[in-house]
Amino acid sequence: MRKFIIAAIGTILLLLLLIGFRNGFWRQDSLPFDSEQKHLNSQFVINFSHVVAENTPKGLAASKFAELAEKKSDGRIQVEVYPNSLLYSDDDELRALQNGDIQMIAPSFSKMTRLIPKWEVLDLPYLFRDYEDVRRVFTGKAGDALLDMLDKEDIKGLALWSNGFKQITTANKPVRELADLKGLTIRTMDSDMLAKQFELAGARPVKLNFDLVYSRLKNHSLDGEENTISNIYSKGFYQLQKYMTISDHGFLGYAVMMNKDFWKSLPEDLQQDVQEAMEEATLWNLKQSEQMNKDDYQKIKATSGMDIHTLTQQEQKEWEKTFRALHDYYRGEVDADFLKEIEKEIN
Ligand code: LMR
Repeated sequence: MRKFIIAAIGTILLLLLLIGFRNGFWRQDSLPFDSEQKHLNSQFVINFSHVVAENTPKGLAASKFAELAEKKSDGRIQVEVYPNSLLYSDDDELRALQNGDIQMIAPSFSKMTRLIPKWEVLDLPYLFRDYEDVRRVFTGKAGDALLDMLDKEDIKGLALWSNGFKQITTANKPVRELADLKGLTIRTMDSDMLAKQFELAGARPVKLNFDLVYSRLKNHSLDGEENTISNIYSKGFYQLQKYMTISDHGFLGYAVMMNKDFWKSLPEDLQQDVQEAMEEATLWNLKQSEQMNKDDYQKIKATSGMDIHTLTQQEQKEWEKTFRALHDYYRGEVDADFLKEIEKEIN
């Protein structure tokens, strides 16, 4: 009899347990509160890929934007920055953005010219005299017009960022006159305007991804390259090149962009947060980039045995005279009115 009662009680308990499971009495409907994850259900993650080092005008502005966007949105936006071509390189980042594989990138203007030839205007040598000219154009009507052109490419243009003026480095020969570049193999970004610039000087331009420049300088398949001091320093090009010419002949800046569908998927208040964070990060970038290039110049001067020549006024005038042909080309073949608008903004 005792055995029977125990077995009956056991069976009843088992049945109760089964009924409880089926009805979900033991299921937790809500996650435990975790202050670190307070907006988990409505959080938007922005993966932001770029090709330069972290300690550069673009790298630091990207981190600044990440910090501001996260703060303004009270954690609903999280920006993950991937520097140094960790995710994508020059030749695949634009497609990755358009396909929605990545949410944000910031390639140089030059790398946009294949998609939109009008952007070549920013590759024109000696277009800007100083950082003040750059600020005026980047934050003015011409800058807005450039960003608006991205819309039909399924891209949301957010801002234009600055790195700095470009200089020329070479391995075996100093460069004072453009003729000194004759016959040299020089790396450029993927821009026909930049290739034309070196062809005018009689050099052999080679378009190459940024992440390959160091190894090609090292194995001597390139004689030289043009870049900002900040890139020359942070990527160690100065260790492989004997000569540097401070020519300030061109400007390197960035198109900061977001995938358009992703942008549209953001609630309006978060779009506002992104825009405000971008405005602040852009002002910060425009202020800091000049100083960063100056600081890196001092570091190269102090620690490397580089032979550095700054163009004299007369030498620069000669360079400008030769490069006028490129301005004429843009006027004749691309868009004379747009160049005029930019020149007006500068003056
Ligand atoms: C380069 O390819 O030299 C630059 O565009 C790299 C960069 O993004 O500054």
